Amino acid sequence: MTESTTIRWEQDETGVVTLVLDDPHQSANTMNQAFRESLTAIADRLEAEQDSVRGVIFTSAKKTFFAGGDLRDLIAVTPETAQFTFERSLAVKRDLRRIEKLGKPVVAAMNGAALGGGYEIALACHHRVALDAPGSKIGCPEVTLGLLPGGGGVVRTVRLLGIADALLKVLLQGTQYSPRRALDNGLIHEVATTREEMLARARAFIDAHPESSQPWDQPGYRIPGGTPSSPKFAANLPAFPASLRKQTNGAPYPAPWNILAAAVEGSQVDFETAQVIEARYFVELAAGQTSKNMIQAFFFDLQAVNSGANRPQGIEPRQVRKVAVLGAGMMGAGIAYSCARAGIDVVLKDVSPEAAAQGKGYSEKLCAKAVSRGRTTQEKADALLARITPTAAPEDLAGCDAVIEAVFEDPALKRKVFKEIQHIVEPDALLCSNTSTLPITALAEGVDRQGDFIGLHFFSPVDKMPLVEIIKGERTGEEALARAFDLVRQIKKTPIVVNDSRGFFTSRVIGHFMNEGVAMVGEGIEPASVEQAAAQAGYPAKVLSLMDELTLTLPRKIRTETKRAVEESGGTWATHPAEAVIDRMIDEFGRTGRSGGAGFYEYVDGKRAGLWPGLREHFTREGADIPFEDMQERMLFSEALDTVRLLEEGVLTSVADANIGSILGIGFPGWTGGVLQYINGYEGGPGVGAGLPGFVARARELAERYGDRFTPPALLVEKAEKGERFSDA
Ligand code: NAI
Repeated sequence: MTESTTIRWEQDETGVVTLVLDDPHQSANTMNQAFRESLTAIADRLEAEQDSVRGVIFTSAKKTFFAGGDLRDLIAVTPETAQFTFERSLAVKRDLRRIEKLGKPVVAAMNGAALGGGYEIALACHHRVALDAPGSKIGCPEVTLGLLPGGGGVVRTVRLLGIADALLKVLLQGTQYSPRRALDNGLIHEVATTREEMLARARAFIDAHPESSQPWDQPGYRIPGGTPSSPKFAANLPAFPASLRKQTNGAPYPAPWNILAAAVEGSQVDFETAQVIEARYFVELAAGQTSKNMIQAFFFDLQAVNSGANRPQGIEPRQVRKVAVLGAGMMGAGIAYSCARAGIDVVLKDVSPEAAAQGKGYSEKLCAKAVSRGRTTQEKADALLARITPTAAPEDLAGCDAVIEAVFEDPALKRKVFKEIQHIVEPDALLCSNTSTLPITALAEGVDRQGDFIGLHFFSPVDKMPLVEIIKGERTGEEALARAFDLVRQIKKTPIVVNDSRGFFTSRVIGHFMNEGVAMVGEGIEPASVEQAAAQAGYPAKVLSLMDELTLTLPRKIRTETKRAVEESGGTWATHPAEAVIDRMIDEFGRTGRSGGAGFYEYVDGKRAGLWPGLREHFTREGADIPFEDMQERMLFSEALDTVRLLEEGVLTSVADANIGSILGIGFPGWTGGVLQYINGYEGGPGVGAGLPGFVARARELAERYGDRFTPPALLVEKAEKGERFSDA
């Protein structure tokens, strides 16, 4: 018999066995080899000693109940090792099933987060009690990593909640519930407020149910809401693929489809067969490229970025107490809200008291909405608002230990406002500009302490967008960089760090995406196809509609300024085919985008009302269409290739930052794992290979067909030749 090394057996005198999940080698319990062996050992022992066992309680000695699958294992699954993974996955299911079918009451006492594998263990228990601890989350987020819950999670949620609820509430969105909301949605049975209460409730269940089994193992059990074999359910079935197509927008996300198939197919067979079906669909996902991309980005890269892989070492962390936000417009108002929400006092300054008060009004609106939706209490909302002081008087900024400037995008104005306040705020206050395009080094020349000056580029809408791009100017000190990093973490956002350059990383790269879409319109390609190509590539916003949102005048302004700067420094400006389209749209047709009431789209009462028919009349040409795949890859490649150039130029210094920044900041499709992981995981197409060599070959093909801008940069070619990939390791 194997030993259990990660699950401790504690039996009391009444015969109740508490199984304490406690991996001695890790801070959290995961579904690793040691756990799998322990689970087998435990199931063996429970069966062998069942006469002396009165009931079973699963709980954990860690902060979390159980963290889920071992992602280091899963990211390494290949088609060659898939069969092994399949059998391993069946073994876990079999052991959980043995415990579930013991005939004794089995209770999950979930003392902390139970996500993925953690909730699947709990699902195999007859009764689930969760401790209402801060940060306790319950659910199956596997879909967000391109996977499905392969430990019986699909089979059991379908049998617990019915196909529709299992899919919509648990499996397809990967929603993470607080214990209270998990209770409301039928995922668990009870919530306790203390550990003692949780264990007492677990025992009470055991006392009241000396013999216990799962609902689905009882005679006459039927899946709630029916299965596809019932006519009423069958009639509704086509709605699922339809809503999935809407959820994925046609982009290549295989996980939701496998989940749907596992749920529906598994509902029509017995429990054991359903487990096998689930395992097959799980392994298919684990061996595929998308889950690897998503695990790399949303787990490993995100962790590296947030844990400060890019923060200078050896500098004491510092918290900001009082921040000055200069400019209470769209961005300033959002920044003020995000800071106040994190407990920081905010002085929000604009040119007049009215303008400043209007900026605070934005927080008032967000707070009222949060209260009305039950997401916060009135008391907390009031406290948040009390932290924001609107003003037009510079002297009110006394005592601020950080400044975030968000006035108009005008270098002279930005210099002026910094000059005005730099001696009023604390003498060592961190000085940040939220410019979206202006080089930080030049802006810093306007202040006395250039070492404390740094770029802090937020994204709109600030309260929702999780990313902040930190830009290090030539004279920015390490201390300032560390403090900026800490400030971004303090307001619970994700910081990436880049070196100074016009447009930095995000603004520059997203420009290529939009230029490519616009260029295709100029080539005569049907505009609706361009939009569709962006959507099906997985971009959250279609390219022409995004262009309209940003206004067509903005890229023209940036282009004019960049061109001037390039030419002044002796370079030559490479004209992009999008420029002529933008110029015609503005100069010939007077269409400047959504804020001007007309752009690539028409607007009625400010609402988008279809593509402007004039596009077809003035631009579209018969026979101009190109393969759909080319359209998608032109957008994706244009962003990926420029990201490699940014690495070459030293603007970007970290692969993880590039991947995370591209997904969280500028909507690069999540299935790719980010802009550089897209190159690593490139699957190739007809005639081109996979990975970097395939990407290079395809880029050359695109360059030949569509222009030099697709010529692969030297760094990419070199890495491909050496057999390397993009990685920080
Ligand atoms: P906005 O036009 O909504 O707000 C600018 C505010 O600055 C106005 O309320 C204006 O009254 C105020 N202001 C002007 N002169 C001032 C002075 N001397 N003292 C104090 N306040 C003054 O502009 P928005 O969109 O909020 O942009 C602000 C900055 O953020 C710009 O540098 C922009 O490039 C940058 N940014 C904008 C993003 C966006 O999506 N709009 C995204 C990221 C950065």
